[in-house]
Amino acid sequence: MRKKIVAGNWKMNKNLAETEALLSDLKSKLGNISGTQIIVAPTFVNLQKANEELTQVNIDVAAQNMHQSENGAFTGEISADMLNNIGVDTVILGHSERRAYFGETDALLAQKVDTALTHNMTIIFCFGEELQDRKSENHFAVVENQLKNGLFHIDTNAWKNIVLAYEPVWAIGTGETASPEQAQEMHAFIRSAIAKAYDQTIADEVSILYGGSVKPNNAEEIFAKQDVDGGLIGGAALDAESFTAIANAL
Ligand code: PGA
Repeated sequence: MRKKIVAGNWKMNKNLAETEALLSDLKSKLGNISGTQIIVAPTFVNLQKANEELTQVNIDVAAQNMHQSENGAFTGEISADMLNNIGVDTVILGHSERRAYFGETDALLAQKVDTALTHNMTIIFCFGEELQDRKSENHFAVVENQLKNGLFHIDTNAWKNIVLAYEPVWAIGTGETASPEQAQEMHAFIRSAIAKAYDQTIADEVSILYGGSVKPNNAEEIFAKQDVDGGLIGGAALDAESFTAIANAL
């Protein structure tokens, strides 16, 4: 059975005091949820605090990024070991903002994936087409290439550490969502690409989240689709009430 997951990507939002306040709200609203895995991804400097706050409840903590090297002269970067050492074993890789603003390529992401797997971390691997790709009807090819070049080199047994997040770039932070039909169509395509590259069992078992302007008023219809196993939430994850409503819609 595929895991149902709702993950909140807080991006560069919430200082320590704000993080504590939001976590405290989330703990009381979602701490006892069952059947859905809840993940929050605060900024690096607040990860340790978040992990301490959430030890007693059913909410997991993820990092938003990490470096591909084990350690060394990489000023400003964070390693997998540093994350593991504070109890963080989930990482978001390949978010479109990392790709667009920080030059992360598929080849670089393939290295990050390998490093994370070496540390037995769970990876929320993000990918998705840009508006021009969809307009020119290249969206399936773009998505398949992102998967092939960034992820499809991993061993069969590494798939248990993978969660996919399909996030069409044109829907992120724009208020425009893919329709439930567009999300379903792409998620089904992603499963078929995995079945082709690996096998049907892996394709059937991996959780595929949808991301891009998921809000309380549209979550239910998107999550109702057969191949959508949850969401990666940006803006609406910054508010406990919205995030809770979205989690409860799954
Ligand atoms: P959004 O962000 O929900 O604000 O569109 C989604 C994401 O970037 O993961």
